[in-house]
Formats: sequence, C-alpha cells, structure tokens
Amino acid sequence: MDFKSGVIYQAYIKSFNDTDGNGIGDLKGITEKIPYLEKLGVEMVWINPFYPSPQNDNGYDIADYYGIDPMFGTMDDFDELIEVAEQHGIGIMMDLVINHTSTEHEWFQKALAGDEKYQDYYILREAPEGQKYPTNWVSKFGGPAWEPFGDTGKYYLSLFDPTQADLNWRNPEVRKEAADIVNFWMNKGVKGFRLDVINLIGKDEEFVNSTGDLDQEKSLYTDNPIVHDYLKELNHRSFGKYPEFVTVGEMSSTSIESCIGYTKPENDELDMAFNFHHLKVDYPNGEKWTKAPFDFLELKKIMNDWQIGLGENGGWNALFWNNHDQPRAISRFGDDKNYREKTTTSQAHILHFLHGTPFVYQGEEIGMTDPYFDEMDQYQDVESHNAYDSLIEEGKSHEEAIEIIKAKSRDNSRTPMQWNDEKHAGFTEGTPWIEVADNYKVINVENELENGEIFNYYQKLIQLRKDMEIIQIGAYEPMFLEHEQVWAYRRKHDDQELITFSNFYGDPITLDISNEVEDGDWDYLLGNYGEKAFHKNLELAPYEAVSFIRTTE
Ligand code: NOJ
Repeated sequence: MDFKSGVIYQAYIKSFNDTDGNGIGDLKGITEKIPYLEKLGVEMVWINPFYPSPQNDNGYDIADYYGIDPMFGTMDDFDELIEVAEQHGIGIMMDLVINHTSTEHEWFQKALAGDEKYQDYYILREAPEGQKYPTNWVSKFGGPAWEPFGDTGKYYLSLFDPTQADLNWRNPEVRKEAADIVNFWMNKGVKGFRLDVINLIGKDEEFVNSTGDLDQEKSLYTDNPIVHDYLKELNHRSFGKYPEFVTVGEMSSTSIESCIGYTKPENDELDMAFNFHHLKVDYPNGEKWTKAPFDFLELKKIMNDWQIGLGENGGWNALFWNNHDQPRAISRFGDDKNYREKTTTSQAHILHFLHGTPFVYQGEEIGMTDPYFDEMDQYQDVESHNAYDSLIEEGKSHEEAIEIIKAKSRDNSRTPMQWNDEKHAGFTEGTPWIEVADNYKVINVENELENGEIFNYYQKLIQLRKDMEIIQIGAYEPMFLEHEQVWAYRRKHDDQELITFSNFYGDPITLDISNEVEDGDWDYLLGNYGEKAFHKNLELAPYEAVSFIRTTE
C-alpha cells in the first residue's frame, strides 16, 4: 500500500466479530468482514495482538511470537485471512510487541530456571544498598517498575504490568530474535507492522533514580538515541527490503524531533509514528485519572505543531482520534447525545484532510460512543481497575471514582462492534467478554448502511485522499489558531489551494474569513451539511465541517 494515499483501519480483534461463540472476536470474524472494509475503502487493517498470551494486558503480553492463540483461531484461519484480504485489495498489518514479553514466554521461564543466555534477554538488576528496588521508577500501570526475579535477589524491569517483562535490546541476540519474528510473518504475507511502544526499547546500561518528577523519569528510558540504531538495524534486516511494506511506531511520550528521526525516509527506520500529545488535552497537570473539560486551543496547537514539525522536516504523522487505549473521541470532545452524526463526521473531516496517514478505529465509521458503564465489574481492563483502587485509596468516593473511570477507561473503546440490533449487537452468539454498549439498537452497522450519513462520509474522505495529491502531500498552513470555536487550516500543492473549516462545538457561528482567505473562484469540495456556497462571512452550523478548493494563477 502507498501509505501517503491510503487509509488504515484498526480492528480490535477481541471485540470485532466472533464466529465461534466463545464471546471473543476471532480471525475468521475479520475475514468475514473484509468485504465491509473494502466497501469503506481502506487499504490495510491493523489487527491488535492475537498471539498466544495469558491476556493480562489483552494480548500485549505475548507468550509465543510464532503462534496464534486458539481463542482467536488457527494458523489456517490466518492464512485464509491473508488470502481473502489480498483478493479484496487489503493488506494485513500485525502488532509487534517487542519492548516486552509475557513472563509466561519460554525465554522468561528459561531465564527464571537459571539459563544465563535467557537471563540476558531481560533487564535484571540488584537493588543498591538502602533501596528497595534497583531504581525508584513507577510502572505505567501503577506500582513499582521492578518485580522480584524468582529467589535470585534480583529484580526484572517491567514498565507495564508485572507480567510484562522488558526485553534487553542491548543484547544482539534479542535484536536478532526481533528481526526473525518480523521476517517470519512477512513471509506469511503480512504487509505491515505496528510496533508497540517502540521508543522505549533503548534503555541505558546504567539505571539511575529519577527525581520523582514523572516527565524527568520517562526521559530516562524514552527516545534514547540508540533507538534509532536499533530501528535501522531491524529495518535493514527485515521490512526495509520491501518498499511497499508499511510500518508505524507507537511512541510513548515522544517528541517532534525524535519522530522526525524515526520517520524520515532517508533514515531507514519507520514510515510513520503515533504520538499521543493531542489526546492528553483533558489531563490537567498531566494527570489522566481526573474528569476535566478538554482544552481546545491546546488541542489545535499540538496538532498544528506536529503538522508543521513533521510536515516541514520530511517526517510523516499517523493521524488518529481513536484506538483501543482511548475513550471515544466523539464522547470525549464532542456531543454524542444531540449531534452524534455531525460530531463524528466533522471530527473525521478535520483529521482526514491533514498531512499524514489517517487511521479509522472500529466503530468510528458508524459513530459508536463510550458505553458509560456504571459498575466496576463491567470494566475488564487492568489499568482501569488499578486506577479505581488508587482513586479510592486517595479518598475519593465510589461515585467520584466511577465518574472518572467512565470518562477515561480504555474499555470505552473496547466494547463489541455493533453490527445489528440483534442480541449482543450481532457480535457473538455466546456471552461477550465485555458488555455491549446499550445503544446498539440504534447505533449499528446495519442501520448505518441503510439510513446513516457517517459511513458514507468516511467513504468520501477516504476516496478523496486517494484521488487528490493536495490532500496527500500538500503543504499545511494553520488558520484561526487562536479561535476558540473553529478549527481551520489550508493545504497548498502546485497551483491548488484547499481550505477546511470545522465548527468544533454545538453553537452556530458566522466567521469572517476575509483577512485569511484570498478572493478567488472557490469551489465546494465536501461538507457534512451538504453543498454550500463559499462566502466571506462563513456560516457554520453545529459541528459543521466544510472544505473549498480553488486553482490559483
Ligand atoms: C500500548 C498498547 O496499545 C497498550 O494497549 C498496551 O497496554 C501497552 N502498549 C503495553 O504493551
């Protein structure tokens, strides 16, 4: 796939489509829906991990890189998926989690049993005198970042769940294992990889205490320059040999500068990078587990900085509102009760016309919302449960804590895909591993395809990107950056100019654009309220998005 003109769909396999009634989505379920994805127009599907795993972090704790967990199907199912997808012009992107393995992985088990070769696959340290752990670092899921390594007196580094042990990339054998894994799946016909928290693989040899400030602490193990060396090496040994192969690195707490390095084609590292700064605009003082309004100006500023930063320096952005780690953007930044359709289409519009590769997360194309679960036992995610316990420990009431979980839990996006208005939204004939959102009678694929406007709008956005170079590679310039209600920008390419406006709120507004936009023959290109004439006093309805285009002399 040409990642500059194509769009990628994310299928959270566990919640996508269950064909065997075990309540968990599976590979056959994805195969069955390939024609649906073709209809949408996407060229690649990123599938979250389906390797054998104890599922303590929903598959991001891999116990065998070369297998398929029986709950998701078999290798034959996988081969069939590759084949069917290819027949429909869709490539399969897998998720590569090589910053850490499950502690159930054979390597870790051998290490625990005393095998020195495998002990060097992990990061094992002793605690210095007077300290409980090798360093004072905290894990991203709460608690210390070190766990006792059997009865050796040593500790292993675990930046996520205690059952996810960080790998030692300083060991050349680990780097060789990583390349072997990529080559194995490439030989099976995989066309892309998403690399999980890949900017964390370069740890220093020396482990030092942080000051206790979380940002300073992250800088001790994030975006270390050696990550670039490791990525180049991996690239040269595997996917770099195939120019059509698509790679996207998931970058934890990263910087523009690092991502330019990771994604500049001449560096031979990755094609593009996900960053999450724009999805922290409702974290007051960096604190995720709070309920707070989002900062619109900050959101625009961050997106603008990344557009300019990567766009003008040869880098490439991965563009997204949603994924399996985030609440749904229409519930978070929009009005999913009164303007669900317009919020969805307007958010999609403003994102898809930017510079980068758009990702569509399952359910986005039909306007799925957060499920608003009220009880903790409806949530399955380890991070959400840890956060709830900490909030209660801090003295919050159950009601206060649940309001926060409801706003921020990763499970908000992990509820089953809503296919129709039948039991469990047509996702499974068994009992789903996580409850279906109770709005599925109205919000579902069947209804959307018959009566809706969202799926159809996504089709148009995806087709326009395929057709128009200005959307793919046009230069980006901001407009109205300080405006508190409207998000706007222009793109320029050859003799074309494209302007886009989105009213990000529910109040209508008339915007005087005469100082920003030159006179000319502006043609309507696309809008979520239908065709409208260009006007210097641009009237925008609630959550309206519209683009105009002209040819300059
Ligand atoms: C990022 C993944 O998207 C997330 O789901 C997972 O918990 C962490 N990486 C750890 O692998």
